[in-house]
Amino acid sequence: MLNFEYKNPTKIIFGKGQIEKVASEIPTDAKVLMLYGGGSIKKNGIYNQVINALSKHEVLEFGGIEANPKYHTLLKALEVIKSENITFLLAVGGGSVIDGTKFLSSAALYEGANPWDILKKSIRTEVGMPFGTVLTLPATGSEMNSGAVISNEETKEKLGMGGPGLFPQFSVLDPQVIASIPKRQIVNGITDAFTHVLEQYITYPAGAHLQDRIAEGILQTLVETAPKIIKDTTDYEAASNFMWCCTMALNGLIQKGVPTDWATHGIGHELTAAYEIDHARTLAIIGPNLYRFKLEQKKEKLAQYGERVWGITSGNTIEKAEQAIEKTVEFFHDMEISTQLSDYTKDYKGFAQLIKSRFEERGWGALGERKDITPSDVEKIIEMSY
Ligand code: NZQ
Ligand code: ZN
Repeated sequence: MLNFEYKNPTKIIFGKGQIEKVASEIPTDAKVLMLYGGGSIKKNGIYNQVINALSKHEVLEFGGIEANPKYHTLLKALEVIKSENITFLLAVGGGSVIDGTKFLSSAALYEGANPWDILKKSIRTEVGMPFGTVLTLPATGSEMNSGAVISNEETKEKLGMGGPGLFPQFSVLDPQVIASIPKRQIVNGITDAFTHVLEQYITYPAGAHLQDRIAEGILQTLVETAPKIIKDTTDYEAASNFMWCCTMALNGLIQKGVPTDWATHGIGHELTAAYEIDHARTLAIIGPNLYRFKLEQKKEKLAQYGERVWGITSGNTIEKAEQAIEKTVEFFHDMEISTQLSDYTKDYKGFAQLIKSRFEERGWGALGERKDITPSDVEKIIEMSY
């Protein structure tokens, strides 16, 4: 096991009817900006629950944060924060609203001239404006981690940011919010969380047995829960397991003491930036091909995953690893998630080459757990995904 330090300060408030507790988590003298997306919370009653809970607080609102939150929209929210002297942010939404709020938490206290530098120059946020979240869509784990991903439509970039100052102070996880989520987003959430675990697990054996077993437990629970929650989003047992799996998949716990990959995400973000493909679907396109490409380097963990999660018993290590990749693809296909780029766009000619150059320019020459995925490899993996 590798050395590690672990601190996660986010308080989780989990369960039925818990949204009203936001009131006791936010200081009564705070001036709150409530941030949300395109309006789903107004249709499913979550908006009213939050507003009612905060009836004794001073609350302003900013709606309209898009999926894959856009930098220029967030700048408008930043103006409100500054002109209204906001002191506390409350994200009510999925990963996009929470990530947008994290950017604002950082930008609100940032002293540089251009807040895009926080992303472009990878400036770590040590201290941000305090914020909490009410999660409406299980998927990203953003509710219990300190990372965010922001899109710039002008430059067609989608970049990550983070730092210890960007953990939510609290996150309310009420699995009943899942009832109103459309199937497209449910399967996205399952696929995103599943891939988060794979990114921290399909590497090389590090003698971290507990981390492996926790990772496998999340994967197995997602596989078992997927058909139930897809069939009935009001199934509370399925909803609560789905929700907690998504949080546990990316709250930092399973990545401690082990190598991590994250190349699938790095490449996937380019597909969203270029074609607006849903985040999770970009992972289903890239992940399996990355594993095929790095089969030799990842074969032990792929085989272990195949044995323990999919019950594969036949074949040698390589054969088990190959079967595990195919099982993963089948899992995505069973949820009607296509794993070929050409199913999402016909405009992919030259894309792999473009991303190769872009990664070279950014100095992203060494991705993956062994730092051996080069921009030329990225080009090949994308070409395999056409
Ligand atoms: O905008 P509204 O109207 O609210 O609708 C949203 C949105 O259209 C809808 N939705 C959310 N909750 C709902 C609901 N519809 C009905 N009922 C509900 N209860 O779902 C749509 C998608 O929402 P979004 O927040 O975009 O989805 P998700 O949670 O998958 O977030 C994706 C974003 O998170 C980033 C992705 O790159 C992407 O930008 N990620 C963030 C990570 C992190 N911070 O740790 C890690 C991830 O790997 C990922 O990169
Ligand atoms: Zn993800």
